[in-house]
Amino acid sequence: MSKTEDLYNEYLITSMVPGFAPVEVERASGTKYYGTDGREYLDCFSGIAVTNAGNGHPKVIAAAKEQIDKLVHCCTYVYYSPRAGELAKRMAEVTPGRLQKSFFSNSGAEAIEGAMRLSKHFTGKNEIVALTHSFHGRTNATLSITGNSGRKISGGPYLSGIAFAPAPNFYRCPFGSKTEEECGERAANYLADTIKYQTAGNVAAFVAEPILGEGGIITPPPNYFKLVKEILEANDILFICDEVQTGFGRTGKLFAIEHYGVEPDIMTTAKGIADGFPLGAFTATPEIGDAFTVGSHLSTFGGNPVSCAAALANIDVMIDEKLPEKAATRGAQLMAGLEKIQANNKLVGDVRGKGLMIGIELVKDADKTPAAAEAGEVRRLCREAGILVGVGGSLGNVVRLQPPLVISEEECARVLEILEKALADTARNL
Ligand SMILES: Cc1ncc(COP(=O)(O)O)c(C=O)c1O
Repeated sequence: MSKTEDLYNEYLITSMVPGFAPVEVERASGTKYYGTDGREYLDCFSGIAVTNAGNGHPKVIAAAKEQIDKLVHCCTYVYYSPRAGELAKRMAEVTPGRLQKSFFSNSGAEAIEGAMRLSKHFTGKNEIVALTHSFHGRTNATLSITGNSGRKISGGPYLSGIAFAPAPNFYRCPFGSKTEEECGERAANYLADTIKYQTAGNVAAFVAEPILGEGGIITPPPNYFKLVKEILEANDILFICDEVQTGFGRTGKLFAIEHYGVEPDIMTTAKGIADGFPLGAFTATPEIGDAFTVGSHLSTFGGNPVSCAAALANIDVMIDEKLPEKAATRGAQLMAGLEKIQANNKLVGDVRGKGLMIGIELVKDADKTPAAAEAGEVRRLCREAGILVGVGGSLGNVVRLQPPLVISEEECARVLEILEKALADTARNL
């Protein structure tokens, strides 16, 4: 047992997966993790979709270091903080549609709680509708709108005034739809019914991830969000788009909702916003943002100057280095390879996602019995071979590929080679 493992066991309240030996990371650079075991690992999880510009991008680090020498903290609300102002303007420039006014927090959950509160403030209503299989964070309010009992264990009682509509998950379509289009349409219709029959008609907002990350990279059909937006508009309900995991180039566009041609009323971001520096945001149209008045909402650390400086540099890097485009190209390479693997391996039930947000759903048989232990085994075999992948999904059976967007063609080829072998070795023991 290493010294760090001892310290973890003795002093950290931890949630390490039992039976899985995590890499002890000494340092990281680009797509590489360097372990204290002297080995080099190819990072295909980006610290849960955070280091999109690569671990320790030199321009982001330089911006943060420069800021540290000038000002680490002054609080965004008692003093004017130049970096927070500049970042808010930049967010208005890069986020879709009329989104303009931002509030900065420290994490994704905090951004979503704030967005929910803002939607209630603006509409004067107090109910929220969310999706099954969703994940929005680990505070009480964000767990209340999380549609996955596994994540909610022993955290209740949760908020009242929350209703859930089924996630548009074509692979396991709750309506047995034969086409993606039918699945999207039926899920949207069900949302309309949810609003009509499961709420008191007082719904402030519908909260959804454009691709449900923790739920298993569930990728809604192309027609889904347009139909949803029509239903929301007809009912005067705001759309809070949770881009915490999908944002900042991950899916091949700067924000995943752009794939669906829909403009949110409020968007939440965190994770990839500052390439690893802690920061979250919710960004709203001007009239919605202005619903909060002095003292409505505050955060002591939110909008930290160092994190904001890192985020400003990170956004420049995204655009200058065309990282969303790179994610689309490398994602297409991985998807094509994975589809070939799927054709020859019965363990692979489904391959889905956009850009470099890819899920490989593993099943034991033609009835789609979830293969969760096998997903863990694939992760272990990949780690042995020097590649770090994630495992997730509501059923625990989805291997997740979410590497830094700077991953190269050669590295993707290696990922495919190692995954093919790991999946084949695991399938042999089914
Ligand atoms: C879609 C989504 N929303 C919110 C969160 C919560 O973010 P944080 O862990 O920064 O609070 C997560 C974290 O995984 C997420 O994936």
